[in-house]
Formats: sequence, structure tokens, C-alpha cells
Amino acid sequence: MSKITAPRGTLDILPAQSWKWQTVERIAREVSTVYHFAEIRTPIFEHTELFHRGVGETTDVVNKEMYTFQDRGDRSITLRPEGTAGVVRAVIEAGLIAQEGARLKVFYIGPNFRYERPASGRYRQHHQFGVEAFGAAEPAQDVECILLQMDFYRRCGVKDLALRINSLGDRESKQRYRDALVAYLSPKRAELSDDSHRRLESNPLRILDSKDPRDVDARQGAPSAHEYLSSASQTHIRRVEALLSDASISFQLDGNLVRGFDYYSETLWEVTASGLGAQDAIGGGGRYDNLVEQLGGRPTPGVGFGSGIERLLLALENQGVQLPRPQPKLIWLVSHGDAAREANWKLMQELRQAGFAVDMDLFGRSVKAQFKVADREGAAFCLTTGDAELAAASVLMKNLSTGEQVTVARSEIAARLRAAGA
Ligand code: HAM
Repeated sequence: MSKITAPRGTLDILPAQSWKWQTVERIAREVSTVYHFAEIRTPIFEHTELFHRGVGETTDVVNKEMYTFQDRGDRSITLRPEGTAGVVRAVIEAGLIAQEGARLKVFYIGPNFRYERPASGRYRQHHQFGVEAFGAAEPAQDVECILLQMDFYRRCGVKDLALRINSLGDRESKQRYRDALVAYLSPKRAELSDDSHRRLESNPLRILDSKDPRDVDARQGAPSAHEYLSSASQTHIRRVEALLSDASISFQLDGNLVRGFDYYSETLWEVTASGLGAQDAIGGGGRYDNLVEQLGGRPTPGVGFGSGIERLLLALENQGVQLPRPQPKLIWLVSHGDAAREANWKLMQELRQAGFAVDMDLFGRSVKAQFKVADREGAAFCLTTGDAELAAASVLMKNLSTGEQVTVARSEIAARLRAAGA
């Protein structure tokens, strides 16, 4: 029979790697807590219409990349391609931002699904740590999100980060910029990729995002978004810049930076890291002041970011950075004979109840084989019991890193292990 493999573009997180995921997720939760963001978990599938209305009909994500299907009740369902739309849907539905002046700061960690061409750092299922902050239109709210994001990378140990920011401004500014781009690119129509011919009518800002070399050439010298900002939008982005500088966060202003969703207005940003090759965006975000209203809520400003966990781990690996590995020291019980194994079975339950990480062989293998397994599993201590130890109510406690071995009374085991840092 042919073997069944994982679907293209997906990764299994195997036991040898899962501690890294746990560590990154723990850091994400810690940093969110410190910045006073609370966790939210929303379904991984939603009504397809949410993404059409929220993310935008003409975006690549909605057009080409969604996993959409009819469920058995004949509803059109989509596996979420990103986290923001679902969070906005949920907080409107729960009435969390229904009050005038309500503020809400949430974070999430979870999988997203995009039918993209798999490559290093680009998967069909990827995971994001993201945050969304509702209710404050102030530039300080944008900056709080950016500071949290950069703090997250710092705590994980990611190096060589570059933050680029831009502003598309309010609705009118965005429209003026869009018109200016169309005016600039229309005479160059013949030089654009086929996709960008279509984009020129439907969503010209997307052309700035295209990786196609024809589009990259054609947009050289394209106007920058800043030239079209209203004075309120200009004041907003200047304040963001000032607050970032105050916080000693270096950044680059990039007037041609756009991001793949229609919901953005005002500030947007992207962070790249070394070691990622072509897919070097480790995270990005921006403000979306019209999205809540667009999805049926009371007009409420919002801003947030999403950060790819696979890419973060890839960057760390390629940068040669080790994540901290706080791991309880594993204790392995070694039994010489059946009576010892029975006694160890009980001892294992006692030690586990006392909070130690303990395991033992269940097969009656030789003492030598048991030590080998203990070593392979990365145990820190072996507690060996044979007839002599049973008679004396003791064990032989061996520190596997130093080789040191002492006899310990059974009643003293927990205290001795604790003293030894287990
Ligand atoms: P995004 O830029 O599409 O934004 O995704 C955020 C991050 O997720 C990317 O920078 C990247 O690290 C990672 N990512 C995206 N697609 C893939 C993929 N196919 N494979 C691996 N990693 C990927 C958003 O999704 C917005 N919802 C962010 C946001 C939140 N904006 C405001 N609030």
C-alpha cells in the first residue's frame, strides 16, 4: 500500500522540536501579559463572507489562496487565512466593543491556511502570534503594538531585525494615492505582469507588493504614499515616528510599503530578519480604522500585527541562536529484578505526585540496557534499585552528567533530588 504523507506545504512539529514551539508560545504569552493584552481564541473556520468583506475581494489571499468548501449544511466555509477578521467578528459578536469609548487589547496564537506555492518559510498551514488593540485611534496605540512585537523578538533572541513603516493615510489619502499610482503606471501598462494588468483596475496598491520582476522594474520611481497624506494623517505618522525614536527603536520610512489586505489605513509596518532568504518578513501589521464598521460593528479604530512562528524559528536556527530550554530534569528509575521493578513502579507514582519528571523501563530489560535508554532520553539522574537496596530501603542515585553515585535512603530521595536541582 502506498504511504500517506503530510499534505504539501504543511509541517509536523515532532517531539524533538515541540519544546521550541512551547518556548516561543510561552514568551508570546508573557510579553502579551506584560503589555496587558488578554488571550482570545476564535474558530479556525469562519463563514467565507467574513474574509470577502473583511480582507477584500481583490486581494491575492481572498482571490487565490483560500481553502473554501461547502459544509454538509451547504454553507460556504473558509479555513481562516489570517487572524484579524475572525477576531473582529468575535469581539463585535460578543459586544466587547459595543460601548462608546470601549478599549480592548487581545492576543492570539494559532494556525492559518493559505494555498500558496510552498517554499522555505512559506507554508500552506502557518502559525501566527498576533495582537489586536481596539478603541484607541492615537498613534501611541500603533507604537504600543510595535514595541510589544519588537520586545517579543528580543526576548526570543532574534537578531538583525529591520522595521519598515509607512502610512496610507485615511480613506481620502488612500484614494488620492491610488489615483496617483494608476496615473503613474498606466503608461507603463505593457511592461506589467498579467496579474498586474488586472490589478491596475481592481487594486493598484497590490502592484507595489508584487514580486514579479516586470512589476518591480515598472514601479521604479513610483510616487510615495507620503505625498498624498491629509494633514491629519501626516500628523499621525509623524507622531508614530517620534514615539518610536523616543523608545530607541530604529526604523526606516518606506513610502512604497503596502501589505496584502484591504483593511489597512494610516500606519502599516513590516519587520524582516536575517536568515530567512526570500520570505524574510517575520511579522507585519497596521491600523484598520474602518474594519469594525465594515463588519457590522460600531465604528471603532483598531491596530495590530501578526508574526509568523515558523519564520521566527527558522530565523533563530539560521542565525545560530539557541532558545532558552527550561526543562525539568528527567529522573530514570532502573530496576534490577522483578521485585525492584514493582517497588520502582510505586516510587515512580510517588515522585510524580511530588512534581518530578520520572520514567522507567516497563519491559524487564537488563540494567545496562536501562541505563542506555536513560541516556538516550536525556535523563539527568538514575535511581537504581536491586535486592540489596530493597533490603536497606535505599536507592543508588547517579548523576549522569558528573557520574557521581551515592546511596540515598528512600525517605530522603525527594529532598536529595531537589537539592541536586531536579
Ligand atoms: P501577514 O503579513 O499576512 O499579516 O502575516 C503575518 C506574518 O505571518 C508574516 O509576516 C509571516 O511571518 C507569517 N506568514 C504569513 N503567511 C505565511 C505563510 N504562508 N507561511 C509562513 N508564514 C507566513 C496578517 O496576517 C495580518 N492579519 C496581521 C495583522 C494583524 N494586521 C493587523 N493585525
